[in-house]
Amino acid sequence: MKSFLSVSDASKPEIDRVLARAKTIKAAIKGGRSLSTLRGKIVGLLFEKPSTRTRTSFEVATRRLGGESIYLSANELQLSRGEPIKDTARILGGYLDGIVARVYSHDTVVQLAKHSGVPVVNALSDLEHPTQIISDLFTIEEAKRRLKGLVLAYVGDGNNVCNSLLLGAAIEGMRFRVACPEGYEPNQAILKQAEEICRSTGGETKILRKPSEAAGGADVLYTDVWVSMGDESSKQKRMQDFNGYQINSDLLKVAKKDASFMHCLPAHRGLEITDEVIEGKQSVVWQQGENKLYGAAALLEWLLRRK
Ligand code: CP
Ligand code: NVA
Repeated sequence: MKSFLSVSDASKPEIDRVLARAKTIKAAIKGGRSLSTLRGKIVGLLFEKPSTRTRTSFEVATRRLGGESIYLSANELQLSRGEPIKDTARILGGYLDGIVARVYSHDTVVQLAKHSGVPVVNALSDLEHPTQIISDLFTIEEAKRRLKGLVLAYVGDGNNVCNSLLLGAAIEGMRFRVACPEGYEPNQAILKQAEEICRSTGGETKILRKPSEAAGGADVLYTDVWVSMGDESSKQKRMQDFNGYQINSDLLKVAKKDASFMHCLPAHRGLEITDEVIEGKQSVVWQQGENKLYGAAALLEWLLRRK
């Protein structure tokens, strides 16, 4: 029984198989062919935070593969009245074949996985957003036809998305550069883990201050919000600290001519990204958003079909 709480819960061969399967599933869905690999499976989606893409893509993916899903808002569960997560996990695990959970504290997905007895997918925690990175790798592969050796520059907050990108890029032997203000570096333990992985994959990780240094010659430019869900109380300070960390057309000019621009969304035009860049020719964000569906489907198959 396997869960996917961190990108590092999957080996390189497993990630590569999931990416290959996402491609096949995309072709099947686009071609109007029906799939039944999750027939008879019921997946629960337990969400403590809002979501447009991740929730909908996992619900649709489950149905497209012939399974069923149930949305469980944490506010409407006894969790909101203090029932312990391990009791909730044991009960839900008895009803469901898998749980997809979006939580504040990463420990909540760890507890769900420990006590539910069914595969748990981390649909975003304060530490990682691993499902996002699976579909992002898929999108990069579609755009660039390879992953190994590519320069991926991340500009902004060293948050959950950045942490998972660090691991995904390391596993795939990419050259990952982060430009962030002091105090907004990615998680130190994950950074160490990524550096360790890079030793065997030929990847590279660099933490820099200047966005132009990270973006110089990059194949892919990536950013995320300056204020993640749960960080709202430090919004004002963040607005000042991230001044200068916007991806705009000047920054795009220092990247490779054919560089792709990515954002996991939701985007805040005028803050971390300009309207010109997100709507521009080099933006792959809409393709990236759509690909969350195929990534979700491939991940669910991988976790729920195995014996
Ligand atoms: N990218 C992403 O996770 O979007 P949602 O918050 O809408 O799920
Ligand atoms: N870092 C953002 C990602 C949203 C998909 C957050 O955690 O809110």
